Amino acid sequence: MSDEPQIKIVKDGPYLVSGGVKLDHKVMVSVGHHREYHEGESLPQAQNYALCRCGHSKNMPFCDGSHTAAHFDGTEVASKVPFDERVEVFTGPTLDLYDDNRCAFARFCHREDGDVWTLTEESGNERLREEAIKAAIDCPAGRLVQHDKRADYAEIEPSFEPEIDVLEDPDKQCSGPLFVKGRLPLKSADGSAYEVRNRYALCRCGGSQNKPFCDAMHVNLGFNDGLKW
Ligand code: SF4
Ligand code: FES
Repeated sequence: MSDEPQIKIVKDGPYLVSGGVKLDHKVMVSVGHHREYHEGESLPQAQNYALCRCGHSKNMPFCDGSHTAAHFDGTEVASKVPFDERVEVFTGPTLDLYDDNRCAFARFCHREDGDVWTLTEESGNERLREEAIKAAIDCPAGRLVQHDKRADYAEIEPSFEPEIDVLEDPDKQCSGPLFVKGRLPLKSADGSAYEVRNRYALCRCGGSQNKPFCDAMHVNLGFNDGLKW
């Protein structure tokens, strides 16, 4: 395995993570009308490890080989067209919001003063501009990226160390995707590379119709990994 931090997808099997990537367990909690990440259980750390992608492991979040008995079809169908070429752009006075519609239904885009799209339209107001930025940068799917019109349209992205957060969504009574942070390279089972992104959400319930990325199917399936919420 590579020493460089990366994720490699195994055909109809798990995500192989190498390079000592930190693994964390996070519970998504509603506070008022916004959402926050709270610490969950502590998970074992390793240089290399395999994360379940089929949703059937008895040793979550790790792979225990259950994908074979489950006859898991992990075929990757997601587009590899770069993010900037797939997005719709929503324009506001100080921000442009890029939105690729790849949603994990984690709901960080809704806040006390409105959703990220209306907040972007109201970004002439300093407080609402900050809210619009917050509503985009917390999105685990990386669907929403603000561009700063005051800084030559530079992307506004949080700086993360490479890390994978195993998500839970108690409000929806289900477990969520893997929130991958810090520009971790993702390699397809066929050896090709996905565009390197700062944030993305990988399916681990096995049900996404846009594999390897999460498309919120875990909510419909009531996916439960058995970890403590
Ligand atoms: S995944 Fe992103 S776009 Fe989808 S609901 Fe959550 S914050 Fe909003
Ligand atoms: S984890 Fe979200 S669709 Fe599978």
